[in-house]
Amino acid sequence: MPTELPLLEDLPSIRGARVLVRCELNAPIADGVVADDLRLTSAIPTIDWLREQGAAVVIAAHLGRPKGVVDPKFSLAPVALRLSELMGTEIELSKQAFGSEADSMISSLSPGNVMMLENLRFDAGEEANSPSFVANLVAPFDLYVNDAFGASHRSHGSIVGPPLLLPSAAGLLLRSEVETLGGLLGQPAKPFIAVLGGSKVSDKLGIIKALLSKCDRILVGGAMAFTFLAAKGYSVGDSLLEVDFIGACNDLLATGRVDVPVDIVIAKEISEDAEAVVVKANAIPDGWKGLDIGPETAALFADQIAEARTILWNGPMGVFEVAPFAGGTITVAEAVAECSGFTVVGGGDSAAAVRAMHLDDQIDHMSTGGGASLEFLELGDLPGLSALRKGRPSE
Ligand code: 3PG
Repeated sequence: MPTELPLLEDLPSIRGARVLVRCELNAPIADGVVADDLRLTSAIPTIDWLREQGAAVVIAAHLGRPKGVVDPKFSLAPVALRLSELMGTEIELSKQAFGSEADSMISSLSPGNVMMLENLRFDAGEEANSPSFVANLVAPFDLYVNDAFGASHRSHGSIVGPPLLLPSAAGLLLRSEVETLGGLLGQPAKPFIAVLGGSKVSDKLGIIKALLSKCDRILVGGAMAFTFLAAKGYSVGDSLLEVDFIGACNDLLATGRVDVPVDIVIAKEISEDAEAVVVKANAIPDGWKGLDIGPETAALFADQIAEARTILWNGPMGVFEVAPFAGGTITVAEAVAECSGFTVVGGGDSAAAVRAMHLDDQIDHMSTGGGASLEFLELGDLPGLSALRKGRPSE
């Protein structure tokens, strides 16, 4: 495993310092308001810790993919508003990540107070990791904290740049994500079961291969299951299929440790009033698509989950936002919540399902990382973590 991360308590002279804190606040926005608070509430402990030490805290974050263009649709304004409600403190938002307006807001920020910089991705330099963007971003600051686990798989300016220029540390959330997910890569209690869903198997091949060396079994649901069913020689009708990955799925099935659905909920369309039918996994007719695992599969998965001492769940079992196709995800969520072993849920959609069902209190670790948690589990490291460990060249 890579060497230890620098921690908050290792930072020099926090009292009176201006601290740039990179947070993961890429939350779903619906009708102009934050639709899920998980990433916001998860960011608060580090911000509060720094305030208590007497730092002036400036939050840097991104929202969506505005691709270097200022687009009000991606403004962090609803996030700043909701975070200030959750924290019970005012959080002003600058119009830009740097420049004269941001500079004067930052220089007049008192110790213990908090402000936020507007969406970093409004400047193309963030994603390009341009040296001038990074230099401008860090210029007003004494210290840098990366607490954005969910964005630490991106080699973006605000993630990998500041540790080379400022004394830097991992925030409390980043640390806890790395310790918990790192624990799954160490000596997880057995049986260790991974439940994987989501749409594309091509996105998950790396993680499946990596997990096979750690887990006892991998349970596959979601649209990615259909490429596995095709590998078994089944017709999958109009279900999502990645033909180029059938061979890879065959190799994974040959391990004997990957379980795929035995029945499927099918329909001709994705709608609340669609005619949804349960069929055996080898009997999906042409013109129909699989949109959820069937009840028999859900029960088999739940039985395995109940016996597990470690569970990792990433990705829904079907189109759970639409009622006729939610059953598999609901059964899995309940089973994971009831499991007495150590449970980790990662990925935006599965975490959202758990939270919508108010089961999050029964999960040991709700990861704020989607792609980041998968990449960390696959590779054991992330660009944002290695940047923190490298630190300033002079140190
Ligand atoms: C996420 O939501 O997973 C992170 O914020 C990364 O977002 P991105 O995939 O747009 O880089």
